[in-house]
Amino acid sequence: MDGDWTDHVTEDPRGSRHHRRDPRDLGQDLQDRQRRGRTRYDTFAETGSFDETFEQWGYVGPQTAAAIMLNYVPTDGRVLDAACGSGLTGVALARLGYAVVEGIDISARLLEIAETTGAYRRLRRVDMQSLPLPFDDDSFDAVSFIGALTYFETADILRELSRVVRSGGHVVFSQRDDLMRERDCGAQLRALEDSGVWHRVYGTEPMPYLPRHPEYGTDIEAQYFVRSCPTGRCPR
Ligand SMILES: C[S@@+](CC[C@H](N)C(=O)[O-])C[C@H]1O[C@@H](n2cnc3c(N)ncnc32)[C@H](O)[C@@H]1O
Repeated sequence: MDGDWTDHVTEDPRGSRHHRRDPRDLGQDLQDRQRRGRTRYDTFAETGSFDETFEQWGYVGPQTAAAIMLNYVPTDGRVLDAACGSGLTGVALARLGYAVVEGIDISARLLEIAETTGAYRRLRRVDMQSLPLPFDDDSFDAVSFIGALTYFETADILRELSRVVRSGGHVVFSQRDDLMRERDCGAQLRALEDSGVWHRVYGTEPMPYLPRHPEYGTDIEAQYFVRSCPTGRCPR
């Protein structure tokens, strides 16, 4: 897969080429998403419907990310599953042989569900809006961050996740293709590379994300990315 990467903003299949919004709207949009993210997932979990709902929507992010990670990260690697939710990504990683996975999420209820999967060595409740994360530099061989970038300032959280990954380690993450366009994420990913935080390793074109979601359907897809921290100390 080396060399076969994209981090470009793809054309909006619904017409407008860039589909970017006023930055003030984006700030408001992000704040709204952050607020919803804090409460919505607990509610989901309390009704016991989180995994069922995502399954009904045909959510394939965890399996896609785990399969991509297998190309770059040995299964004895220590992995942080950031915003792990109910543990779908941990389970997908465990099925592929990853045995040392830690999870963090803001939702206590989802963490309880993640605990029942048996896929995690350790789970902790962490508000990832509050940086730095409670990990030393270079603590992990890899980070997975799937289906959650929506709720965060792109560059801030990705820079922080790369901090906790050792030199030569990998960050595997996803972003919705519509938000790639709206937030100009491609430029932010390139800026992180230009400032030496990481190297581009791999990226996909938009791929299925929640294909049976009543609103997203196949209109909203996701792109998956792999970045590696340079060997030698990462500048931060
Ligand atoms: C769509 S779910 C994805 C969960 C998991 N990564 C997966 O793919 O199944 C988004 C997750 O982000 C978490 N989240 C949202 N805001 C957060 C925050 N400030 N700190 C930590 N986790 C957060 C939610 O609790 C939820 O578990």
